[in-house]
Order: sequence, then C-alpha cells, then structure tokens
Amino acid sequence: MNHVFHRHTLADLPLAASGDGPYIIDTSGKRYIDACGGAAVSCLGHSNARVQQSIHRQIDKIPYAHSSFFSNDALEQLADMLVARAPLDLDRVYFVSGGSEAMEAALKMARQYFLERDQPEKQLFISRKQSYHGNTLGVLSVGGNQWRREPFRPLLMQANHISACYAYRDQSEDETEIDYGLRVANELETRILELGPEKVIGFIAEPVVGATLGAVASVEGYFKRVREICDQYGILLILDEVMCGMGRTGTLFACEQDGITGDLVAIAKGLAAGYQPIGALLANKKIFETIRDGSGFFQHGHTFMGHPTACAAAVATLTEFEEHDLLNNVNLRGEQLRHRLRESLSECENVGDVRGRGLFIGIELVKNSISKQPFDPAIPLHTIVKKKAMSNGLMCYPMAGTIDGQQGHHVLLAPAYIINDSHVDEIVEKMSTSITQSLRSI
Ligand SMILES: Cc1ncc(COP(=O)(O)O)c(C=O)c1O
Repeated sequence: MNHVFHRHTLADLPLAASGDGPYIIDTSGKRYIDACGGAAVSCLGHSNARVQQSIHRQIDKIPYAHSSFFSNDALEQLADMLVARAPLDLDRVYFVSGGSEAMEAALKMARQYFLERDQPEKQLFISRKQSYHGNTLGVLSVGGNQWRREPFRPLLMQANHISACYAYRDQSEDETEIDYGLRVANELETRILELGPEKVIGFIAEPVVGATLGAVASVEGYFKRVREICDQYGILLILDEVMCGMGRTGTLFACEQDGITGDLVAIAKGLAAGYQPIGALLANKKIFETIRDGSGFFQHGHTFMGHPTACAAAVATLTEFEEHDLLNNVNLRGEQLRHRLRESLSECENVGDVRGRGLFIGIELVKNSISKQPFDPAIPLHTIVKKKAMSNGLMCYPMAGTIDGQQGHHVLLAPAYIINDSHVDEIVEKMSTSITQSLRSI
C-alpha cells in the first residue's frame, strides 16, 4: 500500500471504512464528525439509503451510455428537476463530472455564444481577487487566489481581477454597507470601460465565496448593481455556485438570496451529495437558443458527461432535500451553529469573525480581533488546526491566505443538512477545543 500519489506526498492518512449519518468511521473504528462535508460536498451525510439504492438500481438498468449516442432517463429527469427549481430564465442544463469541468464549460459556452453572434472580438473575462473557480488551466486563469495561480502563471490566459466584496476587511468606517457594495461593484464598470465592452465576454463570481475567503457573502445591493452593469454593457454574468449552491446557503441556488440570476450558473459538490461525481452548467434561453439557431453544436464535451449513475444519485439527492424539508434545517442549524460558535469562542481574542449563510460558515482567525491584524503567514495555523481537529474526531476545512493569497487564516465549516441539535453541540465543542489547542501550540 505505497503507490498512491497523494496530494501531500508524505501524507499518512487514516483509511475511511464506513459512514454513519454525518460521521465517517476509519478502519481503527475512530469516528469523525464531518463538519465540512469534505470540501462542502457531503450534504446528506455518508449513509443515505435512498441515494445508495438509486445508484444500485441505475447500475442494474443501464450503467453507462455515451452521451453522443444516447440520452437516459436519469439525465432527462434531473435536467427537468433543476430547471423547475432554478431562477427564471435558466432553461437548459449541460452535465459534466465536477466543478472545474462545469466552470470550464461556462467559459467556452460564453465565448461560443458571442462567436455565434458574430462578435469574435469578445475574448476577455473579468473575475474577482480571492475567488476560486477550479484547478484546470482555464478556470485557474480566472481564479483570483494568488497562491494557487503562482506556479502555473506562465501557462495561464490573461486575467482581469477586480476586488472581492469582503466587508469585514474592506468596508471603510465612513461608508455604509450599501455604499461599500456599490463602490466595489462599480469597479466592474471601470474595468469594462478600460478593457472595452466590445472585448469582454463575461464577469465571473461566486455568490458566496467559499474555499479562499471562508464563506463570505456580498453585502446588500452588490449583485443587483453587478447585474445592472452586465446588462448595460452586454456582458454575461457567470455565477460559480459549485460550492455555495444546491442548498448549502439555505436556498437551492445561492443567488436567490441576492435577488439576481446569472446567464450561466455552475453547480457541482452537493448536487449528488458526494455519492457520485457530477457537475452541471445551467444556461439561460438566450444562450441556448443562440447556439441552437446558429451552429447547433456546442463545441465541447467529456467522456463521462451525463453519466446515468451520477444523474440518478442527484435526482435522489434533490428528492431527499424536499421530502425531509432539509433546506429549512440548513437555515435553522446554520443560525444555531453560528450563534453557539460565537458564544463558545467569545473569550478568544484570535477569532475575528464568524460569518456565512445557512450551513456555510467561516471563522476568520487573527492575531488581534480589534485591529484585525492577521497572524504571521509563516505560521501554518491552518495545518495545525486541521491536525488537531482530526485527532479530536472533527473534520473541518482550514485555509491560509484569506486576505491576499498569502496573509490570513480561516476555517470553513459546511456540515450535512441532516445535522440535529446534538451534532451542532458536538461540532462547536470540538471546533472550539481544536482552535484553542492550536493557538496554544504556536
Ligand atoms: C467555487 C468553486 N468552483 C469550482 C471548484 C472546482 O470544483 P472541483 O474541485 O469539483 O473541480 C471549487 C472546488 O472547491 C469551488 O469551490
């Protein structure tokens, strides 16, 4: 057992043996409460019978049929379910196998849309600092996290990044939240005018920024202004809901809470709750009809797109959300979790902010909570917290580089939508202990 190329090549990882609701159990019998869903994936926990059975049934019917030869029932049903629940105008679904693939498809579909409209000069994207859109070269180019981009910079396409909407650090004392939101949204207009609207394809943003900022929602009015600017200059709004979508923030689509929708919306992670790999790109009528009435062919594709077992798992996942009113639980437990974390960590001067929407929660760790000064970036606080948490039987998702890709630390929490009151208590107790122990050790 020594031939796996793990991402951390020296990693000595426990072996996951089984699942029990929100717990993963390793081969030694140790139980870990999964408070981050891996990377905000496992929204139904690890032993959901409906989803498991749906995969078994699908394998018995038809396990795989290449999407250029056949459609399949699960694929058709899932597309219908998503469109019926999506914000108005999103009318077609293009299925892939993960978040990076969904976002790559978004970039190419957006470009092809303008080619079909005889606007070949449209070739630039604008996106935001401190965003993450995936690890393949196309989406890494538009991603705004410097640490992730740096080693591959010579291979990336031109990037045009504007500020994130990160009120905790960037809103100045003499401006209201609304004014702050307008100020940062208007950076989009300035950049479009600098580049030339005729050259810009689209603006890309996560409605709630996940891995790189730690569950940061934008302030009221920000996305409405962004939508207005995109419409005014004929630019597509591409929303990356890979992490924050599919109920994570308390509504099926995160953008519902900002009162807007994208022309393209990418989803993945929670779509099949981790029981199968799947991602999808929802496109509005205008984009679909332009391609349908133009070349009639979207020049893209992957071998496993529209995979029947993945689609069957996603149909079962969405059904579970509704039959058990789980998004209601997301809102209820999310409020509870934030409240109890704030209470439990109130004495800790190193907790700067506890934030988020629904069961998508960020804890920003700082050297001093009054000045918001971050810890020395040389201190691997994220690694220490992850280690302590695992030894305490807690899975959480700590990250460094919160502020600019170098400085700042946060912990992301994204537990399953099925958690109850005692799970909330267990997460709070283990998270607070792990943070306290980590801070003591540095
Ligand atoms: C917002 C966002 N977009 C895209 C991705 C990439 O998804 P995947 O890892 O499935 O390729 C991620 C993954 O964390 C993400 O958080």
